[in-house]
Amino acid sequence: MVKIKNKIIAGVAVVILLLAGLYFIVYPRVRSHIIFGLREDFRSAVPYQAVPAGIDGIRSKDCAKCHQEIYDEWKTSIHSHSYVDPFFQAYWNKDKHIWICLNCHTPLVNQQPNLVGVMEKPGRVETALLTPNPRYDTDFQQEGITCAACHVRNGVIEGPYADSKAPHPTRFNERFTTTKICFTCHQVPSDKFQFYNIGPCATFPEFETGPYAKQGFICQDCHMPRVERRAAKDGPVRHARRHLWRGGHDPTMIRTAIDAILTDRTPTEKIGREANYTLTFYNALAGHKVPTGDPDRYFTIEFEVKDKTGRVLKSQSHTIGRWIIWQPVILEVYDNRPMPLDYLDYNFSYRLPEDQEGLTLTARVRYHILTRRAHQRLIDKYNLTDLNTPYEFTITEETVSLNPRTRSVERTTDSVKSIQVASLNHSPQCQNGSTALTKLKQGENRHESVTNISTGSVTTTFQPRSVDP
Ligand code: HEC
Ligand code: HEC
Ligand code: HEC
Ligand code: HEC
Ligand code: HEC
Repeated sequence: MVKIKNKIIAGVAVVILLLAGLYFIVYPRVRSHIIFGLREDFRSAVPYQAVPAGIDGIRSKDCAKCHQEIYDEWKTSIHSHSYVDPFFQAYWNKDKHIWICLNCHTPLVNQQPNLVGVMEKPGRVETALLTPNPRYDTDFQQEGITCAACHVRNGVIEGPYADSKAPHPTRFNERFTTTKICFTCHQVPSDKFQFYNIGPCATFPEFETGPYAKQGFICQDCHMPRVERRAAKDGPVRHARRHLWRGGHDPTMIRTAIDAILTDRTPTEKIGREANYTLTFYNALAGHKVPTGDPDRYFTIEFEVKDKTGRVLKSQSHTIGRWIIWQPVILEVYDNRPMPLDYLDYNFSYRLPEDQEGLTLTARVRYHILTRRAHQRLIDKYNLTDLNTPYEFTITEETVSLNPRTRSVERTTDSVKSIQVASLNHSPQCQNGSTALTKLKQGENRHESVTNISTGSVTTTFQPRSVDP
């Protein structure tokens, strides 16, 4: 019996060793250099674009002559920084300047140093044949996602109107009034041997299955707010959109999305001996999960009890994000990011000491573009030089007294958030009524979102649950 058992163990060990050997020899050959699957939309750069008739050039600066306001907004947006962005540069160093990144970060061939030929091994971007691009314009590269990347095609300027009177040729393209224009770059599928629930930077599946998409929203409603103004110098006042694209680099935008509600849930008979609180993290006004896109991003929920001298007596923290193992295979272990109008509850308990004078509890929500460790690694290994760009922000912070005599009263009011969006005239649901109501069926009906079409605003209301008996 013992002999057979030993043989089995030895056999298993040999198989494991063989597999490990095979893995180290074969794996580096099969593992793709980039971490995502290639889709037609970004496999190739936008082909070379010549200057349309009637204008002097296709750099954003050239458009500014007549579209100054739009230019000024674009200039403040992350789209205009997508190449010079220090985080992009550092990660691009890490990825050995692989060309594929440029197809989204500097999408026109005019902006790219190399022309990309066939890939020796299909789908393996690092095996592509590169030749110098004779028409490469270095200054244009700096403009990142420039106006022309979205608007110029084959000598024509495409846009959302069918009746423009412009010095340059124009054409209506429905991409501008739908989510198609954003889909190109904001949806990365996963590839074989990569075990994501959904792809690495996939905002779309979260959006499509969520309540805002069902109400007829498009990305532009929140990220390019409607405005009545001249689309061009000397043109008529029209329905137009601000070219802002605010997101994770803007704490104000994140505060728009997140409602964080601290509720005192200490049972009456335990007041003075114990403190029980719940922080509800509510994805109130993002059209997708929070955070979305880049899987490095996450939120932390932090609780901290301090005494009257400011000494920390207890702290507790939680993470909201995706946890992905990158080596040896890409595997998503979990994803606890809430869908739109969904929420997560975090409980905190603390047994109070005899001396309760000056005791406080602080509950904080913080947003992180990446971890401190990852940030340090970019500095140490990948030449991140700009140390001033913030990469984590406090989104909300609330401090309450734990001393029963000075304890703040329990919160009973509803928490109301709203965002001003477009008149949703592109949405069939919205054309026949003045309000559309979405109630999330989370069992408790604590959240509802009301869209007022006439004013073009969305208000979400959170009703706190009563204290447990
Ligand atoms: C990421 C893609 C993208 C980039 C980059 C971009 N636009 Fe737009 N632009 C859009 C979309 C989408 C619309 C349609 C908005 C709507 O539905 O009215 C639009 C609309 C317009 C319009 C019509 C008026 C309006 O506001 O709707 C003008 C003019 C325009 N863009 C000029 C520019 C200029 C100039 C730049 C560069 C400074 C630029 N765009 C950069 C996507 C882009
Ligand atoms: C010499 C002035 C001038 C320059 C330069 C110029 N435009 Fe225009 N553009 C206009 C005018 C005028 C209109 C018409 C506005 C209207 O009808 O409301 C227009 C319309 C547009 C529209 C709306 C098209 C539609 O029908 O939906 C877009 C988009 C646009 N321009 C983008 C650009 C971009 C991108 C550049 C730079 C590559 C640029 N324009 C350069 C004057 C200019
Ligand atoms: C040509 C590719 C491309 C297109 C088209 C595009 N984006 Fe982007 N977008 C990017 C890239 C790349 C970044 C990140 C830039 C960076 O951080 O360096 C970005 C950033 C953003 C951000 C900010 C994220 C943050 O964390 O601050 C928002 C919001 C956004 N895009 C929305 C949109 C919307 C809405 C559309 C459609 C109208 C759109 N984008 C179209 C490539 C694109
Ligand atoms: C109902 C409004 C709404 C709609 C619709 C919406 N977003 Fe957002 N989005 C937000 C808010 C608010 C934030 C800020 C929260 C955040 O950064 O997590 C945000 C953040 C982002 C970010 C920054 C990433 C991050 O988590 O920090 C990207 C990228 C983005 N949105 C892309 C899109 C795209 C693409 C679409 C369409 C498929 C879209 N959004 C639709 C409201 C919206
Ligand atoms: C399919 C289009 C696409 C490709 C290809 C792509 N990116 Fe991006 N990248 C985006 C978009 C969209 C965002 C911002 C929104 C988000 O978080 O999804 C972004 C954001 C980033 C950010 C975060 C920037 C910041 O300031 O937070 C870094 C870093 C980055 N990309 C690096 C790279 C590198 C390196 C490559 C090549 C290995 C690459 N990207 C390829 C679309 C792309």
